[in-house]
Amino acid sequence: MMELLASIGCHFRIPLKTMWLWISLVLVLQYSKTVLSDSNYLIGLGSYDITGPAADVNMMGYANTEQIASGIHFRLRARSFIVAEPQGKRVVFVNLDACMASQLVTIKVLERLKARYGNLYTEQNVAISGIHTHAGPGGYLQYVVYIVTSLGFVHQSFDALVDGIEKSIVQAHENLQPGSIFVNKGELLDAGVNRSPSAYLNNPASERSKYKYNVDKEMTLLKFVDDQWGPVGSFNWFATHGTSMSRTNSLISGDNKGAAARFMEDWFEQNSAKSDELGTDEIPRRVSSIISSIHNNHHELLELASSFQSSPGKPATRISSAARRVRSALRQADKPGFVSAFCQTNCGDVSPNVLGAFCLDTGVPCDFNHSTCGGKNELCYGRGPGYPDEFESTRIIGERQFNKAVDLFNTASEQLKGKIDYRHSYVDFSQLEVTIPKEGGGSEVVKTCPAAMGFAFAAGTTDGPGAFDFKQGDDKGNPFWRLVRNLLKAPDKKQVECHSPKPILLDTGEMKQPYDWAPSILPVQILRIGQLVILSVPGEFTTMSGRRLRDAVKTMLTSSGSGEFGSNTHVVIAGLTNTYSQYITSFEEYQIQRYEGASTLYGPHTLSAYIQEFQKLASALIKGQTVEPGPQPPDFLKKQISFLTPVVMDSTPAGVNFGDVSSDVPANSTFKRGSTVTVVFWSACPRNDLMTEGTFALVEILQGKDTWVPTYDDDDFCLRFNWSRPSKLSPRSQATIEWTIPPSASLGVYRIRHFGAAKRLMGSIQHFTGTSSAFVVA
Ligand SMILES: *[C@@H]1O[C@H](CO)[C@@H](O)[C@H](O)[C@H]1NC(C)=O
Ligand SMILES: *[C@@H]1O[C@H](CO)[C@@H](O)[C@H](O)[C@H]1NC(C)=O
Ligand SMILES: *[C@@H]1O[C@H](CO)[C@@H](O)[C@H](O)[C@H]1NC(C)=O
Repeated sequence: MMELLASIGCHFRIPLKTMWLWISLVLVLQYSKTVLSDSNYLIGLGSYDITGPAADVNMMGYANTEQIASGIHFRLRARSFIVAEPQGKRVVFVNLDACMASQLVTIKVLERLKARYGNLYTEQNVAISGIHTHAGPGGYLQYVVYIVTSLGFVHQSFDALVDGIEKSIVQAHENLQPGSIFVNKGELLDAGVNRSPSAYLNNPASERSKYKYNVDKEMTLLKFVDDQWGPVGSFNWFATHGTSMSRTNSLISGDNKGAAARFMEDWFEQNSAKSDELGTDEIPRRVSSIISSIHNNHHELLELASSFQSSPGKPATRISSAARRVRSALRQADKPGFVSAFCQTNCGDVSPNVLGAFCLDTGVPCDFNHSTCGGKNELCYGRGPGYPDEFESTRIIGERQFNKAVDLFNTASEQLKGKIDYRHSYVDFSQLEVTIPKEGGGSEVVKTCPAAMGFAFAAGTTDGPGAFDFKQGDDKGNPFWRLVRNLLKAPDKKQVECHSPKPILLDTGEMKQPYDWAPSILPVQILRIGQLVILSVPGEFTTMSGRRLRDAVKTMLTSSGSGEFGSNTHVVIAGLTNTYSQYITSFEEYQIQRYEGASTLYGPHTLSAYIQEFQKLASALIKGQTVEPGPQPPDFLKKQISFLTPVVMDSTPAGVNFGDVSSDVPANSTFKRGSTVTVVFWSACPRNDLMTEGTFALVEILQGKDTWVPTYDDDDFCLRFNWSRPSKLSPRSQATIEWTIPPSASLGVYRIRHFGAAKRLMGSIQHFTGTSSAFVVA
C-alpha cells in the first residue's frame, strides 16, 4: 500500500482529477482489506418457491387418505446457504418447507448440481433437510410405505422440489461474497411438549436428572452478515413437530416453522425498507405508506371505490411477475433478499400442541401411558395454544419461534471461525454390527435388523391419531392386522426376535414388491463450519436420542487433543435430512413401544448404530482422514407407479368465464381492520399451473385515481386461497379468497384478484384473471 502511494507522489504532474481517483481507489482497497480480514468466509443465501400442486394431492405426514390439498394458506420455500473458505472447502445446507427430505429428490438435485458445477457440490457437502410440516403435497418419496396414501408417486410434487432446491442453491452460489457468520443460543420454553412422556420416563433416572426438561428447549441460530449488504439472513434449529395444522387441514402451509420464516423475512424487509427511506429517493418504499396520506375522507373513498365494479374474467399473461412485486417492492435493487430458515432438529417426541392431549368426547386428559380415551386412540387429540383454531395455533407457535429468533439475531456476537470440512457415508442399517458397552463392564456386539414397523405405528400420535383400533404402547397387536400383514410378508423368527419387544405390523425392510417398501441404506453426514458442527440425520430423533448423539460426537471432538475443538464447540442435529427413515428412540424408550418406538425401523439398537457411525465420521474429521463412501442407495425413479389421475378438463357454466366473480363483496362496502373479506371466483384446477414464484390470489390497493398496487399475495398469512369442486369428478370449480385485514393494513380502497389457468378439452392451458369490486378499509 505504501509503495502505491509513493508512486502516486512521484508523478506529481498527473491531473488532479486522476489523482483523486487513485486516492479513492486506494482508500476503497484499504477499506475492503480491513473488512476482509474480519470476514473469513464467502457466504451466499438463496430461496425458491417449492409449493407444488395445490389440489388433488394427498398431504405428506399424517398418512390420512382424506387429507387432500385444496388451496394455499401460505407458500412453501427451499432456503439455502453456502459457506466457503475463499480458497478451500465449502458446504451447502438447504432447508425445505416439506415434511422431510427424500432420497430420490436428493439424488436428482445432486445430478443437476453435477451437470452445472462439476464436483463442487456433491453428496459429501450438500445437506437437504425438511422442517416436518404435515401440510405439504406428498408423493415425492421413493419407498412404498411413504407413498401409499398419495396413490403412489406424484411427479408434480417431486419436480417442484427438485427444481426449487436447485434454483435456491444456484441463487446462493451466485450470491457468494465475503461475509461473517455469528452463532447464538437461547431457550424457548413454550413451543414444545413431550407427547410420549411415558416412554421418556423409561430412560435411566440418572440420565434424566441431568436435564431440566423432557424436551430440548434450546434454539441455535446462525446470523449471516455480508460485507457489502450487512445482515442477509439467518438459519436456526429448534425441536418441535410441524403439527400445529391438523390431519384434516387441506390448505398448503409451512406450519409453525414456515410461518416463523415468513414472519421473520417480512419483519426484516420492512425494517430495512423503513431505515432505507431516509436515504436515497430511488430506494423503493413500502408501497402502502405512500398511499395512506392520499385519501383521508371516508366519503371520498367510498365514492372512488364505487367506480370500480368487479371486472369479468379475462385471459391473462405474465401473472407471476405482477404478483412478485408484493415482496420484491420492499427491496433495494440488486440487494439479495433476506433469507430466514427455521430448521428441524430432534423433534421425534416433541409436539407443538402445548396445552396437552384431551379426549374429544369427555374433555378429560387422555390416558397417560397409551394416549387413549376409553381404551381407543381415535378421540385423543393434542391441543395447540390457539385451540380450537389450528391457524391460530400455527401463528402462535410460529410467532414464538420468530420472536426468539429475532432476539438471538439481534444479540448474536460469537463469530464462527476455523475450518470448513465435512464427512459423509452411506451405511446399510439393515444388518449393522454395533459395539455397545456391556452391563458390568466390557463391550458386546449387537446387530440392527431389516426395517419393520410395530403395531403402535398405526395408532398414530396425539398430533394425529390413527384411524383403526390400535393403541400406543401395544406390545401384542390385533389379529386382523396380523392377518393382513401376513398376506404382505410374514416376518421370520429371526426378524421377530431381532425387533423384540416390538410386535411387527409391517415387515417393510423385507418387502420388495413392486419395489422397496423402506430404505436400508442411509446417509450419515457431518458438516463443519468453524466451531459449529451439523449432524445430518435421516429421521426423527427423540429428545433423549438427540442428546446422546450430540454428546457422543461433542465428547469425541473436544477430547481428541487436537486442540481444534474447544469448549465453545456447538453441535446441532439437522433432522429429516437427505432421506427419511422415520424415528429413532433410545433403547429404553423403544421398550415402551409408543408410536416413536414402533416407528424406529432397525430395531432396539438403532440409536447405538447411529452413535457408532457418527463417531467414525467425527474421528475421521479430527484426524483428517477419509471415510468409506459405503453402498449407493437405489434410484427407483423409473419404477415409480402413480394412480393419481391428471386434470381432464376445466369448465364453467354457460355464460360464465374463468375468473368471473361468483360472489362479490357487498356493494359500496366498508371493512374494518381485523374483519374478513371474502370473494368467490369461478376457477380451474390449480394443478394446471402451480404459479411458482407467483400467486393465485392478490390484494391490491388503489394509489391515486387509477393505479392498483399489489399489497398481499397467497404467501401472506392473512390471505387464504381455498379451491373447491362441487364434487370429485366435476370439471367446475371455485376459488374462495379470504382476506383477514391485518391491523397494519393501510386505510384506503382495495380489491381482490384471482389468477389461474384452465385446461381445455384438447389439453391446452389458458391463463385467466378476475377482479372483485372495490371496497374501502376504514
Ligand atoms: C354505491 O354508491 C354509488 C355512488 O355513491 C351509488 O351511485 C350507488 O347507487 C351505490 N350502490 C348501492 C347498491 O348502494
Ligand atoms: C403407566 O405405566 C407404568 C408402568 O406400567 C405404571 O407404573 C404407571 O402407573 C402407569 N401410569 C398411569 C398414569 O397409568
Ligand atoms: C374451503 O372451502 C370449502 C368449500 O366452500 C369449505 O367447506 C372449507 O371449510 C373451506 N376451508 C377453509 C380452510 O376455509
